[in-house]
Amino acid sequence: MTEHIYAHEHPESDRRRDGGFTLWFTGLSGAGKSTIAHLVGPELERRGHIVEYLDGDTVRTHLSKGLGFSKEDRDTNIERIGWVAARLTRHGAAVIAAAISPYEETRRRARELVEEWGPFVEVYVKASVDECARRDVKGLYAKAFAGEITGFTGVDDPYEEPADPEIVVDTEEHDAEASARLVVERLEELVLVPAAVRA
Ligand code: ADX
Repeated sequence: MTEHIYAHEHPESDRRRDGGFTLWFTGLSGAGKSTIAHLVGPELERRGHIVEYLDGDTVRTHLSKGLGFSKEDRDTNIERIGWVAARLTRHGAAVIAAAISPYEETRRRARELVEEWGPFVEVYVKASVDECARRDVKGLYAKAFAGEITGFTGVDDPYEEPADPEIVVDTEEHDAEASARLVVERLEELVLVPAAVRA
């Protein structure tokens, strides 16, 4: 009799690979989440991690295509990102999620999903609405203030500040490079990434 190659009787196998974690960037649009995330990622790769990005803007073009910005749709988006982050964390990846994720309760839910498999490190990328509107990289704050977009986070939709994030980076005080360095240093302190090999 042939052995089954796959353990069909245990489809929810609990096999995992060590070293995985999820770095979750939250903050207003334009606060600097994606920019910092894409500086931290290559550094983690240099230190031997397999990195995967789950960026809200990108996720919304496929996994969350069609979702809008009601509370319900944002929650669904974050739940999906949290679910994928958990699966990748299980397999040992360093997952870098970056989404406004405005609701504390929904971020907590994402944390719960990930923590079944590895650490969840919440990074609050902090910048005031005034500053984000001044930067207005995508021109969306101008439209929100003009009433051309409604339900825009920080203008006429809520952003609940993280109560107890593992890391806070204030991008009004630090530029993106310095912010990324702070994040990596903190990951070293948490013993999630090896210290840089210095020449
Ligand atoms: S989240 O609320 O579901 O976490 P996500 O990070 O995926 O949001 O997407 C936010 C991006 O969508 C913003 O950076 C911005 O470019 C765009 N966007 C379009 N409409 C809105 C809106 N009403 N509120 C916030 N961001 C919006």
